[in-house]
Amino acid sequence: MSATEPIDVLIERDGAVGLVTLNRPQALNALSMPLMKALAGALEKFDADPEIRVMIVAGSARAFAAGADINEMKDIKDAIAAETALSKHLAAWDRIGKLKKPVVAAVSGFALGGGCELAMACDLILASETAVFGQPEILIGVIPGAGGTQRLTKAVGKALAMDMILTGRRLTARVALAAGLVARVVAPEVLLEEAKKTAREIAKASPLAAQAAKAAANAAVDRQLDAGLARERELFYRLFDSNDQKEGMRAFAEKRSPAFTGK
Ligand code: CAA
Repeated sequence: MSATEPIDVLIERDGAVGLVTLNRPQALNALSMPLMKALAGALEKFDADPEIRVMIVAGSARAFAAGADINEMKDIKDAIAAETALSKHLAAWDRIGKLKKPVVAAVSGFALGGGCELAMACDLILASETAVFGQPEILIGVIPGAGGTQRLTKAVGKALAMDMILTGRRLTARVALAAGLVARVVAPEVLLEEAKKTAREIAKASPLAAQAAKAAANAAVDRQLDAGLARERELFYRLFDSNDQKEGMRAFAEKRSPAFTGK
């Protein structure tokens, strides 16, 4: 890698804990294709590493991640092109959801769109008091495409999930805690230390038991997840046939309000 090439994820290890930090501060950690490839690759490497027992995914104080990178999607011309361009990219969230070892998401600031979906693909979310969760895709003419309609509905129930997905409304950390989306809320300055403490606590357990516990708990919520994810993805791609998707994403890039026509 050249010295000038940006490093999208920072990788650290601390005993049995593997930490991956999203690092695109200029775009609020928007989950570009290279970033997601690097993230999924790093986590899979930790998953296969016998010395690592638990993983943490963290962002910056201002943003865990503000979604998939809209600039990579805004000029996709139709559903077929969307599937071609995005299927491997969206599969990165599935790869993270299929890791065997426990993954803790340490969320501070914005966790929107694909960022909220990434946090939910992890096993437990620790949030700072500044965390904000939302699925605002509807505001740019699409829907969540990386598991949000499925995982959010399972985490907070249909009524609140519909409210968020249909309006783009965001939840504060405290409301997310009350709704069952996050496990704990802590002060921003101790978030990473709390995540590490939690990871070290999990790492003390038998790794066999920890992985079995994760698999069993996920079985309670993941039933029919694959079918739901496939349906979500089909509907997501189909929206790239619309003018509204182009209008919504271009309006975001041009920093103006979109004018949707239903076409
Ligand atoms: N994609 C690309 N760039 C993004 C981005 C995204 N999702 N989110 C933020 N950025 C960029 C902005 O374009 C801006 O770049 P410039 O400085 O070059 O203009 C920079 O990050 C800082 O963002 P803002 O100036 O907008 O910061 P703000 O504090 O005014 O607003 C925000 C913050 C509310 C998070 C706002 O950036 C925002 O609404 N972002 C988009 C959120 C969103 O719609 N996410 C869903 C994406 S689609 C998706 O995720 C599909 C899926 O399910 C897989």
